[in-house]
Amino acid sequence: MSRPTKALIDIQALQHNFQLAQSLVPDDQCLAIVKANAYGHGAVAVAKALEPMAPAFGVACIEEADELREAGISKPVLLLEGSFSQQDIVRAAGQNYWLMLTNQQQLDSLLTASLPKPVTVWLKVDSGMHRLGIRPETVGAFYQQLKACNHVCDEIVVATHLACADELSSSFTDAQVKTFKDCVAGLNAPLSISNSSGLLAWPETRQQWNRPGYMLYGNAPFPEAHQHGDKLRHVMTLTSAVIAVRDVAVGESVGYAASWTATRPSTIATIAVGYGDGYPRQAPSGTPVIINGQRVPLVGRVSMDMITVDVTDQDSVAVGDDVVLWGQELTANEVAEWAGTIGYEILTRMPLRVPRVCT
Ligand SMILES: Cc1ncc(COP(=O)(O)O)c(C=O)c1O
Repeated sequence: MSRPTKALIDIQALQHNFQLAQSLVPDDQCLAIVKANAYGHGAVAVAKALEPMAPAFGVACIEEADELREAGISKPVLLLEGSFSQQDIVRAAGQNYWLMLTNQQQLDSLLTASLPKPVTVWLKVDSGMHRLGIRPETVGAFYQQLKACNHVCDEIVVATHLACADELSSSFTDAQVKTFKDCVAGLNAPLSISNSSGLLAWPETRQQWNRPGYMLYGNAPFPEAHQHGDKLRHVMTLTSAVIAVRDVAVGESVGYAASWTATRPSTIATIAVGYGDGYPRQAPSGTPVIINGQRVPLVGRVSMDMITVDVTDQDSVAVGDDVVLWGQELTANEVAEWAGTIGYEILTRMPLRVPRVCT
């Protein structure tokens, strides 16, 4: 028998979540963001499952796009950080990768490139996040140069990215939308603003092109209950099993650094999952873990390959019992909060050691 630790990937849930995203923009398009190995879920499996419904995919870099092409994915792939060299631009044109154009250097490189066929370009505007993109007052000049270039495809999407859309009471998103809409007025170009939180919660950010990522994997990007976010279905279930059960007496400690000590006669179950499997090392004692459908608290430090939980209050726990670290009943967001991080990080960090099993 193999080690029981696995990430089950629910393909129907993934497709449901894409359809939910699409239902919010019935007349417009959603590009599925599958960067960082589809937020840890497995980019090829995710893209194959979404290819019948998604018109295009989004990744961070050309290596991620190549992985999709090599696996037989034929839909366009947007490179969210654009080109890093003129070679990337040539390759993008040949492979139907779309380039996000974010600065003057990328424009110069594009205008002087010799391409096998025209390339699709999205123009990224910095509307207030101040991370990537051209200044709003330069949009007209960039856009006209791209329009005049005969190896740039005619339709140029003008895009921006939101910094605070996961904070539902922040006024920052409205300010970004205004800055963006003011600078594109009169261009008659298709627009793209929304990520998951924009799409779910900020109707004015829904445009001709939308770029949902995190929501596709079944987690809402904000902590509060939300009419659309609550309909998402968790895609990854991280499962394992109990591999040892022992009694510890009052005063005995458990795990590295002896950081947890029994204050009552306790039963401790050891589970075959640790930070080497993407379970966050920062998760403190008390973090919930599900054994046989019941929540039990983590106790002691997370090791590389194992964790320990207190099952004293359970009727019977035995070697081989099923364990869920996160999934529909205990979300990655909730575990991440215990560990002082966000669900994005713990999903994306899921290492290759954990087999992804599509269900
Ligand atoms: C430019 C861009 N668009 C869309 C996304 C998807 O964001 P989310 O996963 O919050 O939906 C990202 C992710 O960071 C991004 O960088």
